Amino acid sequence: MGPRSLRVNLILWFTLIFALILALSDYVTYRVLHGVLVAELDSSLISIAAEHRASVRDAALSVDSGSDLPRQPTPHFIQLIDSRGHILAQNGLADNSSVLSQDQIDRVLEGNVVTADVKRGHFDGRIAAIKGERAGEPVAVVTGTGTERLSSRASRIALILLFIDVVAVAASIAGGSLIIGKALRPVDHITQRARQIGAGDLRQRLEYLDSSTEMVHLTAVLNEMFEKLQRLFESQRQFVQDAAHEIRSPLAALRCRLEVALRQNRDAVEYREVLRGALDDSNRLSELADDLFLLARADSDNLAMDFREVLLSDVVSSVHSLLTPIAEARHVSFRQNIESDCLVYADRDRLHQAFRNVAENALKYTPPGGQVTVTVRAVADEGQVIVEDTGIGIPRKDQKKIFDRFYRVDRARSRSDGGTGLGLAITDQVIRAHRGEIELESDAGHGSKFTIRLASATSLVDAAVVDD
Ligand SMILES: Nc1ncnc2c1ncn2[C@@H]1O[C@H](COP(=O)(O)OP(=O)(O)O)[C@@H](O)[C@H]1O
Ligand SMILES: [Mg+2]
Repeated sequence: MGPRSLRVNLILWFTLIFALILALSDYVTYRVLHGVLVAELDSSLISIAAEHRASVRDAALSVDSGSDLPRQPTPHFIQLIDSRGHILAQNGLADNSSVLSQDQIDRVLEGNVVTADVKRGHFDGRIAAIKGERAGEPVAVVTGTGTERLSSRASRIALILLFIDVVAVAASIAGGSLIIGKALRPVDHITQRARQIGAGDLRQRLEYLDSSTEMVHLTAVLNEMFEKLQRLFESQRQFVQDAAHEIRSPLAALRCRLEVALRQNRDAVEYREVLRGALDDSNRLSELADDLFLLARADSDNLAMDFREVLLSDVVSSVHSLLTPIAEARHVSFRQNIESDCLVYADRDRLHQAFRNVAENALKYTPPGGQVTVTVRAVADEGQVIVEDTGIGIPRKDQKKIFDRFYRVDRARSRSDGGTGLGLAITDQVIRAHRGEIELESDAGHGSKFTIRLASATSLVDAAVVDD
C-alpha cells in the first residue's frame, strides 16, 4: 500500500475515536433509559398487585383457572399462589403453573417485594409479587404483563440514538476535513514553493504566509536550508572558477614558452632553458592538480586518513630537514626547537603536509636575514606546533581570509613564488580532520606566528575511557 495522505489519516483516526466515544456514551444512555422503563413498569405492576391484594382478602377472586377467559396471554395477568406453590386463583394467563419459583415464593411470604423477568415459550414478560392474605392464609399476589411494549419503546430509543450517531459521524467527517484541510493548506503551499525554488533560483525564499508557530518554524528551517544550499553552491562555483583560472595561467605560460622557442632555430643551451621552464610549469600544474584533488576529497568527506600514534617532534624534524636547503638558499635562519614532545593520533603524511605548508610560507614571506623558528611543546593534554617568522606579516583585514581557498594577500608576489593560495586552505582542512585548531597572530611588517593545537593521544585514550 502506498503512503496515505496525512489528511486522510487524520480524518480516519479522528472519526474512529469519535465513533468509539459515541458508542460508549450510547451504550450507557441506553442502559440507563432501559432501567428507567423497567422501574416504571415494576412500580405500576406493584400498584396493580396492591389493588388485587385488597380485593382477594375475602376470597372475592374465584379459582376459575381462567376457564372462561381467552386462553392466550393478555396484556396483564394475576396469580395467587400459596406457600407450597399451589395456584389458588389466576386470571389472564394461558397455562396454570406458578410463575414464581419456590425460592421466590418464600421471599415474598417473608414480606419482600419480588420483581423478575419471566419467559414462557414465546411469552416474554415481567412480574411483580407481594405478600397478601386469603382466608387467613398468607399468599403471594403476583401480577405480570408482557414486555412487548417496553421492548418496542427501547428499540425506538436505540433507533433514535443510532440516527443521531450517523448524523454526528457524518458531520464530524465533513467538519474534520474542512478544519484539517484548512490547517494543511500552508503545507501544500510550502511544498509547492519549495519545489519551485529547488528547481529554479536558489536565491528566492519562502514567504511567511501562515502565522502558526509550526508553519513559521517550518518556513524558517526551509529558508535556512536554502540559504546554506545557496552558499554552498556559490562557493562551489567560485572554487571551480578560481581553479580554472589558476590552471589557465601556467598553461598559458607553458604555451607561450614553447611558441617563442619554436619561432626560430636555437642552440642546445637555449632549448635546455626552455625545457627546464616547461618542466617547472608542468610541475606547478601537477602540484595544483594534487591540491585541488585533496580539497575536493575533503569536501566530500573522502579524505582517506591513516590514523596512528605519531610523535610531533618526529614530523617536525622531517619537515625541518626537508626545508633547510630552501632556507639556506633564501638566507633565512631556520631553527627547530623541541621544548617537550607529544604523542598524537594522526595521519603522519597529512600532518607533514600541513606543517610543511605553514613552514614554507614562513620561509617564503621572510626576507633574507630573517628568522623562522618551529617549536614543539606539550601543554596540558595537547601538543602544539608553533611556526614563527620575522617576515612581512599579514595585515589584520586579511588574517581571517588567508585560510580561504585561493586567497593571497599579494596575488602577484605569491604567484611569482609558485604559490597557488591553496596551502593554508589544505592545512586548515587537515588540522580540522584531526579535530585540531590552527591560530594566527600577526603584525604587518613584524612577522607572523601560526599555532597548531592537537589533542595528545593519551588524552584521547582518557576521553574514550570516560565515554565508555
Ligand atoms: N608567514 C606568512 N607571512 C606573511 N604572509 C603569509 C604567511 N603565510 C601566509 N601568508 C599569506 O597568506 C596567503 C595564503 O597562503 P597560502 O594558502 O599558503 O597560499 P600561497 O602560499 O600559495 O600564496 C599567502 O598568499 C600570503 O599572502
Ligand atoms: Mg603557501
